[in-house]
Amino acid sequence: MRVLVLGKGGREHALCWSIAAGGAEVFALPGSDGIASIATCVPGDPGDASTVFAAVRGLKIDLVVPGPEEPLVSGIAEDLRAQGVQVFGPDRQGAQIEASKAYAKTLMRAAGIPTAAASLCQDFGAVEQTLAVHPDRTVVKADGLAAGKGVIVADDVAGARRAARRLLQQHASVLLEERVRGPEVSLIALCHGRDYRLLPFARDHKRLHSGDLGPNTGGMGAFSPVTDTGVGAEECAERTIAPLLALLADRGAPYTGALYAGLILTAQGPVVLEYNVRFGDPETQALLPAISGSILPWLAGAAEGHLPEQSPQAVRHALGVVLAAAGYPEAPETGAVIRGLDAAMASGALVFHAGTRRVSGGWQVAGGRVLTVVGQGQSPGAARDLAYRAAAKIEFAGRQLRDDIG
Ligand code: GLY
Repeated sequence: MRVLVLGKGGREHALCWSIAAGGAEVFALPGSDGIASIATCVPGDPGDASTVFAAVRGLKIDLVVPGPEEPLVSGIAEDLRAQGVQVFGPDRQGAQIEASKAYAKTLMRAAGIPTAAASLCQDFGAVEQTLAVHPDRTVVKADGLAAGKGVIVADDVAGARRAARRLLQQHASVLLEERVRGPEVSLIALCHGRDYRLLPFARDHKRLHSGDLGPNTGGMGAFSPVTDTGVGAEECAERTIAPLLALLADRGAPYTGALYAGLILTAQGPVVLEYNVRFGDPETQALLPAISGSILPWLAGAAEGHLPEQSPQAVRHALGVVLAAAGYPEAPETGAVIRGLDAAMASGALVFHAGTRRVSGGWQVAGGRVLTVVGQGQSPGAARDLAYRAAAKIEFAGRQLRDDIG
């Protein structure tokens, strides 16, 4: 099988790695210098249907796997399917679940899915009015794609006002959401219509600094499986994934692809914080190394309409530590020389590239989240030790990492 992965980040590197382990020949558009070690990279814009279609035809691709949300929101999956191409990803309408927080909220309410109370505000006056009546609605979410910068968890009403004012400068509306407290967990379903299989729970660490301090980031590390949830993935999915898939199918818009539910676990059960229409980053870098075998049968099965009978099984623990550039997340500095990649890999860890570029004689920092270093082990501690031992071998000026992943 010949598989084309769209994207260039750490998640896509992990997808290419796992798909290649399933015996497929892997191509990436555009891919990256890091991904080029395991896949053939094809230049181009992954959101441009004609570029992707030309690659599919030219390379005789059997399956397309979009990594990031942007190409899905602009309809790449739908456009390719219309040309008879197998794709693991939702149509435009399904992708709106991530692109519009307000649309996702409407669907959750219609499907009876537990989610935090929220108000949609189109101007600052509405923000003031909402906060006067509901001072607990201090989670401010941009209604639109925001490259990981669209959710601000404010500590109080003043912080929520500031956040809303800022986000309203770039977005037509914001959602003010009640702050629900509890452990967070990511649950990713591999879906076709009403049918789905589940990846094990994973947990991301979104704040920049250890101890959950500092600004929100795209994710500074993740591990899987998560064993302290007190509730099973199947039970969570029955409340948060199945009703959404059923609603979409009933409305004539069946969903194919990864559906990511960001959950808060409360005494009353899981509450949905957000949905994404793709694999999580950096969760994927930990999830795929934790499961038995390759993810390929589930991707191909969902695209063809026949998911494998079983869900992927976690057979080991995996933990990924993100190494970020100086200045990340506000203003990442690029150009620093990266040393120690070979030594990190020689210690047995996996190293997934995101913001790197190959230069003569070595590697340079080329983006905010630079690498995810992943340890695998038969216990959470073994996976963690390996990840941190390997991460310590990689050096670049201004390197940032959290020391408390897991
Ligand atoms: N890890 C959060 C996300 O992928 O959106």
